[in-house]
Amino acid sequence: MTKGKFITLEGLDGSGKTTQIKRLDAWLRERGHVTTLMRQPGGTATGDRIRELLLSSKSAGIAPMAEMALMFADRAQAITEVIRPSLEAGKVVVCDRFTDSTEAYQGGGRELGSEVVLELHRVICGGLNPDLTLMLLPDLEPSLERARRRNQKANNTAGPDENRFELEADAFHRRVWEKYHEIARREPGRVVLIEGALGIEDVHQRIVAAVSECIAKQ
Ligand code: TMP
Repeated sequence: MTKGKFITLEGLDGSGKTTQIKRLDAWLRERGHVTTLMRQPGGTATGDRIRELLLSSKSAGIAPMAEMALMFADRAQAITEVIRPSLEAGKVVVCDRFTDSTEAYQGGGRELGSEVVLELHRVICGGLNPDLTLMLLPDLEPSLERARRRNQKANNTAGPDENRFELEADAFHRRVWEKYHEIARREPGRVVLIEGALGIEDVHQRIVAAVSECIAKQ
Protein backbone atom coordinates (compact mmCIF):
# COMPACT_ATOMS: atom_id res chain seq x y z
CA MET A 1 0.00 0.00 0.00
CA THR A 2 1.49 3.37 -1.01
CA LYS A 3 1.33 6.34 1.39
CA GLY A 4 1.78 9.29 -0.98
CA LYS A 5 -0.46 10.63 -3.71
CA PHE A 6 0.01 10.11 -7.43
CA ILE A 7 -1.29 12.98 -9.55
CA THR A 8 -0.94 13.08 -13.34
CA LEU A 9 -1.49 15.89 -15.84
CA GLU A 10 -2.63 15.08 -19.32
CA GLY A 11 -3.48 16.99 -22.45
CA LEU A 12 -2.45 17.88 -25.96
CA ASP A 13 0.89 19.49 -26.67
CA GLY A 14 0.48 23.22 -26.06
CA SER A 15 -2.33 22.79 -23.52
CA GLY A 16 -0.39 24.66 -20.80
CA LYS A 17 0.58 21.65 -18.65
CA THR A 18 4.09 22.92 -17.91
CA THR A 19 2.87 26.26 -16.53
CA GLN A 20 0.20 24.55 -14.44
CA ILE A 21 2.62 21.97 -13.03
CA LYS A 22 4.97 24.74 -11.84
CA ARG A 23 2.09 26.55 -10.14
CA LEU A 24 0.71 23.37 -8.60
CA ASP A 25 4.14 22.42 -7.27
CA ALA A 26 4.54 25.86 -5.62
CA TRP A 27 1.02 25.58 -4.15
CA LEU A 28 1.74 22.12 -2.69
CA ARG A 29 5.09 23.17 -1.22
CA GLU A 30 3.59 26.26 0.40
CA ARG A 31 1.25 23.88 2.21
CA GLY A 32 4.10 21.72 3.50
CA HIS A 33 3.86 18.81 1.05
CA VAL A 34 7.02 17.19 -0.25
CA THR A 35 6.69 16.79 -4.00
CA THR A 36 8.40 14.83 -6.73
CA LEU A 37 7.99 16.19 -10.26
CA MET A 38 8.26 13.77 -13.14
CA ARG A 39 7.61 13.85 -16.85
CA GLN A 40 7.11 11.13 -19.43
CA PRO A 41 8.87 10.19 -21.50
CA GLY A 42 11.98 11.05 -19.46
CA GLY A 43 12.79 11.97 -15.89
CA THR A 44 15.44 9.27 -15.33
CA ALA A 45 18.84 8.91 -16.99
CA THR A 46 17.58 5.95 -19.06
CA GLY A 47 14.25 7.66 -19.69
CA ASP A 48 15.91 10.81 -20.99
CA ARG A 49 17.74 8.71 -23.57
CA ILE A 50 14.47 7.03 -24.56
CA ARG A 51 12.84 10.49 -24.75
CA GLU A 52 15.45 11.73 -27.17
CA LEU A 53 14.93 8.71 -29.39
CA LEU A 54 11.13 9.03 -29.29
CA LEU A 55 10.73 12.77 -29.84
CA SER A 56 13.48 13.51 -32.34
CA SER A 57 12.24 14.23 -35.85
CA LYS A 58 15.14 11.97 -36.98
CA SER A 59 13.20 8.93 -35.66
CA ALA A 60 10.72 9.18 -38.54
CA GLY A 61 10.51 5.43 -39.24
CA ILE A 62 9.58 4.12 -35.76
CA ALA A 63 6.78 1.54 -36.05
CA PRO A 64 3.72 2.37 -33.90
CA MET A 65 4.17 -0.82 -31.81
CA ALA A 66 7.86 0.04 -31.25
CA GLU A 67 6.86 3.56 -30.24
CA MET A 68 4.35 2.20 -27.74
CA ALA A 69 6.85 -0.33 -26.34
CA LEU A 70 9.41 2.44 -25.83
CA MET A 71 6.83 4.57 -23.99
CA PHE A 72 6.24 1.64 -21.62
CA ALA A 73 9.99 0.94 -21.29
CA ASP A 74 10.41 4.54 -20.14
CA ARG A 75 7.47 4.18 -17.76
CA ALA A 76 8.78 0.94 -16.22
CA GLN A 77 12.07 2.69 -15.44
CA ALA A 78 10.32 5.76 -14.00
CA ILE A 79 8.09 3.64 -11.75
CA THR A 80 11.00 1.61 -10.37
CA GLU A 81 13.47 4.41 -9.99
CA VAL A 82 11.31 7.36 -8.94
CA ILE A 83 7.53 6.98 -8.72
CA ARG A 84 7.14 3.99 -6.37
CA PRO A 85 9.96 5.02 -3.97
CA SER A 86 8.53 8.56 -3.77
CA LEU A 87 5.01 7.28 -3.05
CA GLU A 88 6.34 4.88 -0.44
CA ALA A 89 8.10 7.83 1.23
CA GLY A 90 4.74 9.64 1.44
CA LYS A 91 5.46 12.27 -1.21
CA VAL A 92 3.05 13.83 -3.68
CA VAL A 93 4.20 12.75 -7.13
CA VAL A 94 3.12 15.09 -9.92
CA CYS A 95 3.73 13.47 -13.28
CA ASP A 96 3.50 15.25 -16.63
CA ARG A 97 1.80 12.47 -18.67
CA PHE A 98 1.35 8.74 -17.88
CA THR A 99 -0.51 5.81 -19.46
CA ASP A 100 -3.43 8.02 -20.59
CA SER A 101 -0.96 9.63 -23.01
CA THR A 102 -0.12 6.24 -24.48
CA GLU A 103 -3.80 5.41 -24.82
CA ALA A 104 -4.50 8.80 -26.45
CA TYR A 105 -1.43 9.06 -28.75
CA GLN A 106 -0.63 5.44 -29.61
CA GLY A 107 -4.09 3.94 -28.97
CA GLY A 108 -5.98 6.87 -30.54
CA GLY A 109 -3.52 8.85 -32.68
CA ARG A 110 -1.70 5.81 -34.10
CA GLU A 111 -4.92 3.76 -34.08
CA LEU A 112 -3.51 0.83 -32.09
CA GLY A 113 -6.67 0.86 -29.95
CA SER A 114 -7.12 1.05 -26.19
CA GLU A 115 -7.08 -2.65 -25.43
CA VAL A 116 -3.40 -3.33 -26.11
CA VAL A 117 -2.38 -0.19 -24.18
CA LEU A 118 -4.46 -1.14 -21.15
CA GLU A 119 -3.13 -4.70 -21.24
CA LEU A 120 0.48 -3.49 -21.30
CA HIS A 121 -0.33 -1.04 -18.52
CA ARG A 122 -1.66 -3.91 -16.41
CA VAL A 123 1.45 -6.02 -16.94
CA ILE A 124 4.13 -3.32 -16.85
CA CYS A 125 2.76 -0.80 -14.35
CA GLY A 126 1.65 -3.50 -11.91
CA GLY A 127 -1.59 -1.87 -10.82
CA LEU A 128 -0.12 1.60 -10.32
CA ASN A 129 -2.88 4.04 -11.24
CA PRO A 130 -3.03 7.77 -10.56
CA ASP A 131 -5.13 8.90 -7.58
CA LEU A 132 -6.10 11.91 -9.68
CA THR A 133 -5.66 12.89 -13.32
CA LEU A 134 -6.05 16.50 -14.41
CA MET A 135 -6.88 16.52 -18.08
CA LEU A 136 -6.36 19.89 -19.78
CA LEU A 137 -8.24 20.04 -23.04
CA PRO A 138 -8.48 23.62 -24.30
CA ASP A 139 -9.75 24.01 -27.86
CA LEU A 140 -7.80 21.91 -30.35
CA GLU A 141 -6.68 24.52 -32.90
CA PRO A 142 -5.11 27.07 -30.49
CA SER A 143 -3.23 24.30 -28.60
CA LEU A 144 -1.74 22.96 -31.82
CA GLU A 145 -0.70 26.40 -32.96
CA ARG A 146 1.00 27.06 -29.63
CA ALA A 147 2.87 23.75 -29.65
CA ARG A 148 4.07 24.29 -33.22
CA ARG A 149 5.21 27.86 -32.52
CA ARG A 150 7.12 26.66 -29.44
CA ASN A 151 8.91 23.98 -31.39
CA GLN A 152 9.71 26.33 -34.23
CA LYS A 153 11.30 28.67 -31.68
CA ALA A 154 13.31 25.79 -30.14
CA ASN A 155 14.53 24.83 -33.63
CA ASN A 156 15.56 28.41 -34.41
CA THR A 157 17.49 28.71 -31.15
CA ALA A 158 19.16 25.27 -31.42
CA GLY A 159 16.96 23.94 -28.58
CA PRO A 160 16.16 20.21 -28.32
CA ASP A 161 14.71 18.58 -31.44
CA GLU A 162 11.37 17.38 -29.97
CA ASN A 163 9.23 17.91 -33.02
CA ARG A 164 8.12 14.48 -34.11
CA PHE A 165 4.60 14.45 -32.64
CA GLU A 166 3.85 18.08 -33.50
CA LEU A 167 4.69 17.29 -37.12
CA GLU A 168 1.76 14.86 -37.28
CA ALA A 169 -1.28 15.87 -39.32
CA ASP A 170 -4.26 17.54 -37.68
CA ALA A 171 -6.27 14.31 -38.06
CA PHE A 172 -3.78 12.55 -35.75
CA HIS A 173 -4.24 15.24 -33.07
CA ARG A 174 -8.00 15.08 -33.44
CA ARG A 175 -7.90 11.33 -32.74
CA VAL A 176 -5.74 12.01 -29.66
CA TRP A 177 -8.24 14.62 -28.51
CA GLU A 178 -11.19 12.25 -29.00
CA LYS A 179 -9.46 9.43 -27.13
CA TYR A 180 -8.75 11.73 -24.19
CA HIS A 181 -12.47 12.57 -24.03
CA GLU A 182 -13.31 8.86 -24.16
CA ILE A 183 -10.97 8.19 -21.19
CA ALA A 184 -12.54 11.07 -19.22
CA ARG A 185 -16.03 9.66 -19.85
CA ARG A 186 -14.94 6.14 -18.88
CA GLU A 187 -13.21 7.12 -15.62
CA PRO A 188 -15.02 10.12 -14.10
CA GLY A 189 -13.89 9.16 -10.59
CA ARG A 190 -10.21 9.59 -11.45
CA VAL A 191 -10.18 12.13 -14.27
CA VAL A 192 -11.04 15.81 -13.85
CA LEU A 193 -11.58 17.33 -17.27
CA ILE A 194 -10.71 21.02 -17.64
CA GLU A 195 -11.99 22.19 -21.01
CA GLY A 196 -12.34 25.26 -23.16
CA ALA A 197 -10.69 28.68 -23.38
CA LEU A 198 -9.91 29.35 -19.70
CA GLY A 199 -7.21 31.68 -18.37
CA ILE A 200 -4.15 30.40 -16.50
CA GLU A 201 -5.56 31.49 -13.12
CA ASP A 202 -8.95 29.81 -13.68
CA VAL A 203 -7.28 26.55 -14.66
CA HIS A 204 -5.02 26.77 -11.59
CA GLN A 205 -8.03 27.27 -9.30
CA ARG A 206 -9.77 24.22 -10.73
CA ILE A 207 -6.62 22.19 -10.33
CA VAL A 208 -6.08 23.11 -6.70
CA ALA A 209 -9.74 22.42 -5.87
CA ALA A 210 -9.40 18.89 -7.28
CA VAL A 211 -5.99 18.33 -5.65
CA SER A 212 -7.23 19.52 -2.23
CA GLU A 213 -10.06 17.02 -2.40
CA CYS A 214 -7.72 14.21 -3.49
CA ILE A 215 -5.22 14.92 -0.70
CA ALA A 216 -7.94 15.08 1.95
CA LYS A 217 -9.03 11.51 1.06
CA GLN A 218 -7.23 8.83 3.08
P1 TMP B 1 5.90 16.66 -23.84
O1 TMP B 1 6.82 16.13 -22.82
O2 TMP B 1 6.35 17.96 -24.39
O3 TMP B 1 4.48 16.67 -23.40
O4 TMP B 1 6.02 15.73 -25.12
C1 TMP B 1 5.89 14.39 -25.09
C2 TMP B 1 5.33 13.92 -26.42
O5 TMP B 1 5.28 12.51 -26.41
C3 TMP B 1 3.93 14.42 -26.65
O6 TMP B 1 3.79 14.80 -28.02
C4 TMP B 1 3.07 13.23 -26.40
C5 TMP B 1 3.98 12.07 -26.69
N1 TMP B 1 3.69 10.87 -25.88
C6 TMP B 1 3.13 9.77 -26.49
O7 TMP B 1 2.89 9.78 -27.69
N2 TMP B 1 2.86 8.66 -25.73
C7 TMP B 1 3.14 8.59 -24.39
O8 TMP B 1 2.89 7.57 -23.75
C8 TMP B 1 3.73 9.76 -23.77
C9 TMP B 1 4.05 9.72 -22.31
C10 TMP B 1 3.98 10.87 -24.56
